[in-house]
Amino acid sequence: MTIHIGAEKGDIAETVLLPGDPYRAKWAAETFLENPKLVNNVRGMLGFTGNWKGHPVTIQGSGMGMPSLSIYVNELIRDFGAKTLIRIGSCGGMQDSVNVRDVILAMTSTTLSTPSRGIMKELNFAPCADWDLLQAAANAAIAKGTPTHVGGIYSSDVFYDERPDLNEQMMRHGILGVEMEAAELYILAARHKCRALAVLTVSDHLLTGEALPSSERESSFGDMVEIALQAAFSDAA
Ligand code: HPA
Repeated sequence: MTIHIGAEKGDIAETVLLPGDPYRAKWAAETFLENPKLVNNVRGMLGFTGNWKGHPVTIQGSGMGMPSLSIYVNELIRDFGAKTLIRIGSCGGMQDSVNVRDVILAMTSTTLSTPSRGIMKELNFAPCADWDLLQAAANAAIAKGTPTHVGGIYSSDVFYDERPDLNEQMMRHGILGVEMEAAELYILAARHKCRALAVLTVSDHLLTGEALPSSERESSFGDMVEIALQAAFSDAA
């Protein structure tokens, strides 16, 4: 048990999927895992462990934003021995070529700041995805036929952004989408020698204003969960 995760040590798998929304953790666990068992409900931040094709998997909510994700990921890695951590979340599209419902695999993430800023000091550390996971996720997405983009994203600290000039710079430099967690996940994985990836579904679009209707959210998010699971175990015998 840790401050924020009320599980016993053996209750958490080495492979952890991290949706921001705890209810999406419940939905994904009940939809994709065999024998999902509730392993955490501290603060309602639900976590479940079950099996996917015989492999143990935990799906743990991370909350919104990098400070919240940092708490869960630190405890998952340092106290529970998580080794492969894949964010499954939504993002806002930032390019004409990216459509609502598409999947984005975040190769790297640009930020203004992260919870690790303090230790990085003057360094502009470049958070990047684990190559094996990224490659395996791209292969899984191609095999599924899911429209998928691989490239840079923006991990923002604000949802209600009041700096349109920054978004313009991101778009001008080819950033595919905006979310609020991936950069810190990548930095923590680098620090602790773990593997990390963010697999994101485009739920809304900053250029067109289009948003995924709630009736369609589950089926679109399902592709993302399957891509993440296939990537996590692509090298398993
Ligand atoms: N901004 C930040 N995070 C998001 C967005 C957005 O537009 N859409 C989904 N997550």
